[in-house]
Order: sequence, then C-alpha cells, then structure tokens
Amino acid sequence: MSLYARITGTGSHLPDKRLTNHDMVALLAARGLETSDDWIVERTGIRARHFAAEGEMASDLALQASLKALSAAGRQLHELDVIVVATSTPDMVFPSTATILQRKLHEAAQAAGGQGPIGAAAFDVQAVCTGFIYALTVADALIRTGGARRALVVGAEVFSRILDFDDRTTCVLFGDGAGAVVLEAIEHDGEGPGVLATDIHADGRHAGILCVPGTVAGGQVLGEPLLRMEGQAVFKLAVGVLEETARTVLGKAGMTEADIDWLIPHQANIRIMQSTARKLKLPMERVAVTVDQHGNTSAASIPLALDHAVRTGQVRPGQLLLLEGVGGGFTWGSALVRY
Ligand code: UT7
Repeated sequence: MSLYARITGTGSHLPDKRLTNHDMVALLAARGLETSDDWIVERTGIRARHFAAEGEMASDLALQASLKALSAAGRQLHELDVIVVATSTPDMVFPSTATILQRKLHEAAQAAGGQGPIGAAAFDVQAVCTGFIYALTVADALIRTGGARRALVVGAEVFSRILDFDDRTTCVLFGDGAGAVVLEAIEHDGEGPGVLATDIHADGRHAGILCVPGTVAGGQVLGEPLLRMEGQAVFKLAVGVLEETARTVLGKAGMTEADIDWLIPHQANIRIMQSTARKLKLPMERVAVTVDQHGNTSAASIPLALDHAVRTGQVRPGQLLLLEGVGGGFTWGSALVRY
C-alpha cells in the first residue's frame, strides 16, 4: 500500500466581462490596429475571453474557484494543510497570492460561522503556463511523503493586466480566470485514483521568447512591464516538448497512449492541441477544449478545462487523464491522473 494524492473536488471561475473576437476587433481598431475574427479563429481557435474588472485580482478569481472546489470535495476550509497558487500575475510583488487567498478564505469561512485555513502552509509557484502542473507536482510530492493530507492547488491569472493592446500579435490571445483542485491523501496498491506520475522540465536558454522583461527597483519599474512573445518560436518548441513529456509520464506509470481517456492540455492554441492529439493518436473527442471560450489563461487554463470537463460530465471517476502544459521559462510538464 502506498500514499497517493487524489483529486476530490474541482472548481473554476471566470470574471464577468466577456469579450468576443468582434469586441477585440473594435478595441484594436480604436488604436489604429487591424485584426479579424477569421484570423484569430483560424490561427488559434479562440472566439472569446474574459477580462477581470478594475480592482479584481488573481486572489479574487482564485477565491471563487477554491470555494467551488472545496464544496465539490465536501471539505471545510480549516481542513486544508497547504495552499499552492500557480500565477504569473500575483496581486503583489510579495507576499504570495496564496497567503492573500488564505486570508480571503478565512474571511469567507468566518462570514459563514466557520474557521478558515489559518496556519496551513501557503506559497506561490511561478512557471507561467506550466504553473499548474508544477504546483500539482509539488503538492503531490508533499502528500505522498506525508507532509500534508489535504492541499488546495490553484491556477489564477489576470493576464489582461500585462497585455500590450498596441501589439496585436499577443493581446488577442490571452484571458483571465482561475481553476482549483482539492488534493487528498489516499492509500492503495496503485490500482485506485490519484496522481500516478508527474514530469516537469525547464530550459532557461529560451527565457526571452515569452516574457515580461520588467522588474521593480528603487521604486521604479525597470524594463518593460508588458508581455512579449515570439509566437512561432514558442509554437515550434511547444509541439516537440508536449509529445516528449506525454510519453515520459506515461512511461513512468507503465502505461501507453492507448490508456488515456482524456487529454486536458494547456489551452494556448487549438493547433497545438490538435498536433499533440495526432501524435498520441487521440481523437479530438477525447481532448478537453475550452480555448475557444477562455483564450489562453496561462496557469489557470488546465484547471479551468478540467473543471469544465468534470462539471459537463465528460470526465468520469476511474478515467485516466493526461494533463500537460508548456510556457514561459521555457517550462513544460505533465501529470497522469486516475480521476
Ligand atoms: O501559453 C504559452 C504558450 N504559448 C503558445 O503556445 C503560443 C504559441 N504560438 C502561437 O500560438 C502562434 O504562433 C500565434 C497564434 C501566436 C501566431 O500564429 P502564427 O500562425 O504563428 O502567425 P504568425 O506569427 O506567423 O503571423 C502570421 C501573420 C503575420 O503577417 P505577415 O507577416 O504574414 O504579413 C502577422 O503580422 O499574421 C499577422 N498577425 C495578425 N493578423 C491579424 C499577427 N497577429 C495578428 C492579428 N490579427 N491579431
């Protein structure tokens, strides 16, 4: 018998403000830039995205997603041992968005007459669009080694804040949102549910192809505080490493691509997802797709897609899920989960 980390609840949240491609066409036209619904759909599969309201932070989106995940798991907030938030758009430089989320969870619990998760460990993980896979890997390791029994793992982003609306090659691609899972320790002989294997990597030589190359120093922002991406370079690296990590994580668990019930990929571009599905010989009917409605929500995209697939009844207990992501850093990774 061994310890596994089982997903017992999922949740997600999108800000109210929804912009279609037609809204983006108008927004860019006002700045003298041209784009079209046809170009965005054909090149990316994106039709709409959500943007946070002024003052709405990553922790606010994370709070809503987390409350839904905890409710789905049937858990009280004080039962959490650790909170891990994957984000590249934190509320503050520090403290971590995870600690701000912890305070907001505590306030929500108190308002309902209960206790919050004060005292639980709380920290952020920064691996851009691979952030949720990294966060899941860390939480899984804590649970497997007995360091925690219940973890809240969240991906939350407000990328609208770091978009350059004078750069049509990037601003039409991203959106805001949050997704969360509750992970709980479970003991079995390897046949039961849980995270079966994880695989994470980085290659810092490519840090410059997808970055926000600014920093805060002496009370000033130095460098550029907006997102820059060499789209084609990212695309080419992404399709290669996603196949590689998928095969590696399957190998670690002694499984093959034929065992996969659902691919839950990072939602950056439908063409990247189609390429991975083709390489793994998976029909698109077994790929969770939300990029059309969410755009690229970075670290939030995988848990958002997972929660959508769970709540629409696509993903069912006992099924094998391959979660995988790729993003700035350059980072990439995957997790094989028996749901
Ligand atoms: O989340 C982290 C991981 N990120 C990714 O995985 C993103 C990976 N990259 C991509 O998804 C794609 O490279 C993009 C969607 C970013 C771009 O698609 P592409 O097929 O690589 O297009 P491109 O960069 O080669 O641009 C083709 C043309 C260019 O015009 P010319 O030079 O051919 O005349 C661009 O100027 O499309 C033009 N273009 C646009 N046209 C209308 C670029 N952006 C736009 C736009 N609207 N918004």
